[in-house]
Amino acid sequence: MNTPTTNPLRIGLRQERVVGPQCLIIFGASGDLTKRKLVPALFKLYKQRRLPSEFALIGCARRQWDDEEFRRRMADSLVGPIKEDHQSWKDFSARMYYDSVDLQRKSDLVKLSQRLEQIDRLHATHGNRTFYLSVSPKFYGSGCEAIAEAGLLDDPKRSRVIIEKPFGRDYGSAKELNQIVQRCGKESQIFRIDHYLGKETVQNILVLRFANAIFEPIWNRNFISSVQISATETVGIEDRAGYYETSGALRDMVQNHLTQMLAITAMEPPGHFDPEAIRNEKAKVLHAARLGDELEPWKCCVRGQYVKGGTKGFPLTGYREEPGVDPNSTTETYVALKLFIDNWRWQGVPFYLRTGKRLAKRLSEVVLTFREAPVHLFDSAGGSPTSNQLILQIQPEEGAQFRFEVKAPGSGMKSRPVEMGFSYEDCFGEPSDEGYVRLLADSMLADPTLFTRCDEVEAAWRLYTPLLEIIEDSPWMLPIHQYESRTWGPTAADELLAQDSLLWRRP
Ligand code: BG6
Repeated sequence: MNTPTTNPLRIGLRQERVVGPQCLIIFGASGDLTKRKLVPALFKLYKQRRLPSEFALIGCARRQWDDEEFRRRMADSLVGPIKEDHQSWKDFSARMYYDSVDLQRKSDLVKLSQRLEQIDRLHATHGNRTFYLSVSPKFYGSGCEAIAEAGLLDDPKRSRVIIEKPFGRDYGSAKELNQIVQRCGKESQIFRIDHYLGKETVQNILVLRFANAIFEPIWNRNFISSVQISATETVGIEDRAGYYETSGALRDMVQNHLTQMLAITAMEPPGHFDPEAIRNEKAKVLHAARLGDELEPWKCCVRGQYVKGGTKGFPLTGYREEPGVDPNSTTETYVALKLFIDNWRWQGVPFYLRTGKRLAKRLSEVVLTFREAPVHLFDSAGGSPTSNQLILQIQPEEGAQFRFEVKAPGSGMKSRPVEMGFSYEDCFGEPSDEGYVRLLADSMLADPTLFTRCDEVEAAWRLYTPLLEIIEDSPWMLPIHQYESRTWGPTAADELLAQDSLLWRRP
């Protein structure tokens, strides 16, 4: 492994785009996301000199805080080395303001418009405004309308809205929400955020596929036999019972993050690297995706819920014992499912998706398994020869691994699998930024490439509608399988793959 000072790849390779004059307005600024993700991401951008001196941030929420209290609370929640840079924080926080705003009250929006004018003059932000709706999802539509009615979205070149997930809770509500927000502004002003798209390693799937000539010719049904997409977590639901009970893993992770990873893995090469070309291809592949069994959808999906586990010294509670959770809850904290993509490239190749909380390991990855060699000339030292695999590691390891067979040492001719890898940290010497860093900068640069377009979000919801309907109307057909905390999930999920003579990867 190269040391940081000798690796030439590490030198001067960061490419950064600098945001122009801008005022970012966060609604829901007293919430968890603002202090845990948004403000730290903005501070990071500031420290990377990617925010201009003509930048201001206004936090808005109903609480009666003032500028000083907002700054203090945000400073208190910084963690890690970034917290120690007092001088930078002092400079950065001088651009932070707070306004007590109830999005449902017209007079508050009038007052906010006036404050925006003042801040525009004070910080020379030239009327460029990005509004971030980090409020309860039930206010996404009315919040957007309130901003538009105050005239704050009138200039499509200078104003835009970022909308957090979940964008709708099924196909119908997502469609309705799209109609509302599109009445408020142009589609080019709407930025539906999915923080997985902000991850360096998810974007790397695009670069790996489309910047190398060797992968595309084999990236199809002729060479690939199956694909696994996983996002497993060790944490439970933390303190989000209220949200999670109405969501569950299918809505919380599958419809958005896993489906976006699927789209990027399976899309056709775009003609250009521009926002519409990329999003057209993603939308096309999502339209071609279908559940593994359309006639009997319950056969291609497994739902699970964690029960207690852990160790004597570190016991973990079950989902139903978490504060705020219904003791009889049937909300799933785990989902595994099988999909197909009906197009020339992927016909017949199963895509398996899995996600869950309180699992054995934190892991997000895409695994492409290649077809077996047509003839096995060599016995395997470890039993049966393994298929080649390309593992695209999203987190916590960031990089890629290729697994292939080599000759086991010795006078025999047996084979054994080895892995060849690339790691971001070894090559570039620093951990990647959080997805929000990239996405906040991109939205302020009005670049929608890594944001979900209206048709993509609807196609993703439509894909899972049959499952959501079963859960709603006939839940016994998709029963909850319990799994012990810190294991790999319910055995029923293993059976889903065993039917196809496959195993989930458990690194
Ligand atoms: C969020 C979900 O969107 O993604 C959370 O609401 C989940 O439940 C989180 O924990 C996972 O994100 P990451 O970046 O930690 O994989």
